[in-house]
Amino acid sequence: MDLAESFRFYSENSASTYSRTYRDITRAIADDPDLLSIVSDSPVDASHPGVLLGVVRFLLLDGIDHPLGHLYRRAGAGEEIPSGEIVGEFRSFVEAHRNQILEQMLTRRVQTNEVARASVLAAGLAEVGTRHNEPIALIDVGTSAGLNLTIDRLAIDYGHHRIGPTDSTVQLRCDTLADGPPQRPLPPIGWRVGLDRNPIDVGDPDAVRWLQACIWPEHADRQERLTAAIDLFNTDPPRLVAGDALADLPALMAEAPADHHLAIMTSWVVFYFDTEGRSGFEEVLCQAGRPVSWISAEHPSVVRRLVGKTEPQTDEGDFSALALLDYAGDASHPTREFLAWCHNHGAWIDWQL
Ligand SMILES: C[S@@+](CC[C@H](N)C(=O)[O-])C[C@H]1O[C@@H](n2cnc3c(N)ncnc32)[C@H](O)[C@@H]1O
Repeated sequence: MDLAESFRFYSENSASTYSRTYRDITRAIADDPDLLSIVSDSPVDASHPGVLLGVVRFLLLDGIDHPLGHLYRRAGAGEEIPSGEIVGEFRSFVEAHRNQILEQMLTRRVQTNEVARASVLAAGLAEVGTRHNEPIALIDVGTSAGLNLTIDRLAIDYGHHRIGPTDSTVQLRCDTLADGPPQRPLPPIGWRVGLDRNPIDVGDPDAVRWLQACIWPEHADRQERLTAAIDLFNTDPPRLVAGDALADLPALMAEAPADHHLAIMTSWVVFYFDTEGRSGFEEVLCQAGRPVSWISAEHPSVVRRLVGKTEPQTDEGDFSALALLDYAGDASHPTREFLAWCHNHGAWIDWQL
């Protein structure tokens, strides 16, 4: 896919569902060689449209005063900004700040950490608790800033029942389509760690601003949630380890207390592995030498072999599949259970078990 196609694809797919402003901007970039040249001029590969969009937003959040920032704030308040206006101001910003954009593009890569995914991961973790009696040793692989490791400190409202401390400073709402997850508490978590090849330090204001910059302008609720989740995380930060999901996971699993049941969580991580990486990841879990449960909240393709079900009717665009894979620890094939369809950012769950 060439650069123009990549921006057009982004406009017609990811952005068209979630962000009207980014849909209009990326459509305009795809058709404008001048705007495209800022990406092709970068000496590093910054071809993912989210890099340019994020860098521009980062510079605005960093203090550059430009009408584009006001338009993004209005979009965040629910206003529909006319296409010509948002594209015109984006172009004006790029012309005025070309060198700063190019400098930022050298190091920035799209990065997210969506704590609302904890509401679907928690439904999976509650299922693990019904199958294993020991306290949980939790490893969040591809943890980003580690926010989902606070899973048992969040108040989660599934509509027909709630779990977690009701007075939590992070309140999540996860609507249930048809059936919701069974009414079950989380098992106690006695040990936890996050693994990421690029863990985000939320004590670093620059890193936090980049996480904020990667959120679509319309998603003001996600910005608020991110801030609340970082504050909660910082009151008692879980341990994060820099390393690779395949190469470094065995050593971390070996550290988990022997009298705990090991649970691995992934959300929108394994999807980005190639075919070899996906089967390699399963192999690592198979060879753990102890029982392991994998709670997978990923693109449906990750657990395709479990998905012979009718996909939910929703106008929310694409969505995730929640699955639970239980490895006995003796290298035998795992038990694979499909649990639910769910929204990519945890806004709803459609329980299937
Ligand atoms: C889309 S983010 C999802 C973050 C988080 N799980 C969430 O749901 O918000 C993917 C994360 O996986 C990490 N990642 C991707 N490939 C990895 C690998 N091979 N080893 C470790 N981390 C990886 C990235 O650095 C990034 O932080």
